[in-house]
Amino acid sequence: MSKKFILAIDGPVASGKGTLAHLLAEKLDAFYLYTGAMYRGLALYCIENGIDVENEENVKKVFHNLNFDFSGKSIVLNGEDVTEKIKQPEVANKGSIVAGYKSVREFLVELQKKIGFEELNKGRIIIAEGRDIGTKVFPEAQVKIFLVADPSIRAKRRTAQYREKGIEKPYDDILAEINKRDEADTKRSISPLVPAKDSIKVDTTNDKISDTYEKVLKILKEKGFYD
Ligand code: DC
Repeated sequence: MSKKFILAIDGPVASGKGTLAHLLAEKLDAFYLYTGAMYRGLALYCIENGIDVENEENVKKVFHNLNFDFSGKSIVLNGEDVTEKIKQPEVANKGSIVAGYKSVREFLVELQKKIGFEELNKGRIIIAEGRDIGTKVFPEAQVKIFLVADPSIRAKRRTAQYREKGIEKPYDDILAEINKRDEADTKRSISPLVPAKDSIKVDTTNDKISDTYEKVLKILKEKGFYD
């Protein structure tokens, strides 16, 4: 079946969104829009150019210096492959700060809509992943998934992911960071992390990634978007 549609995947940090979105994008030959990469990319640009992310006015000035390319498997920012760089803990933490600014959200959400609709109009399936996809970026998405998982499990997964990248960070520190980012993401006044009313909640606490993948494929089948 080659029906174009938008699949929105939202959920808290380390709930499995990225891995799930990657697998589904491969299976469905879909365009994968990782919106967190834009908040992280903006934070990375600020770090590398000595811009204080605590100051919204300064952050605002760099918007038009950012050129994202999501067409390949890597995240390309201003011609550089930043896929690995943006995974660093400092970039994640600063990304969470810039994601709280109204000006940043307005700018990046518009950009996300533009990129997504351009690809959809080319006939592609869109898999977009973030915190506000089902509520703000693509409220018209045909299928909306909201992933949840216990913070302790998410901290375990993130510890393992960091270890794979050679980053050694104690589990307790990661758990504390996850709780802090959850709080920032759910309590901010603009676009807080909340499930869209028409989203389907998928609890991944006891799942292997293949379990979550199968659950979501089943949902897509039931809705007529996958044979
Ligand atoms: O999904 P992630 O961890 O890569 O996201 C990085 C940060 O950006 C995270 O703190 C939440 C924020 N974010 C957001 O506010 N809205 C999105 N659509 C995606 C990410």
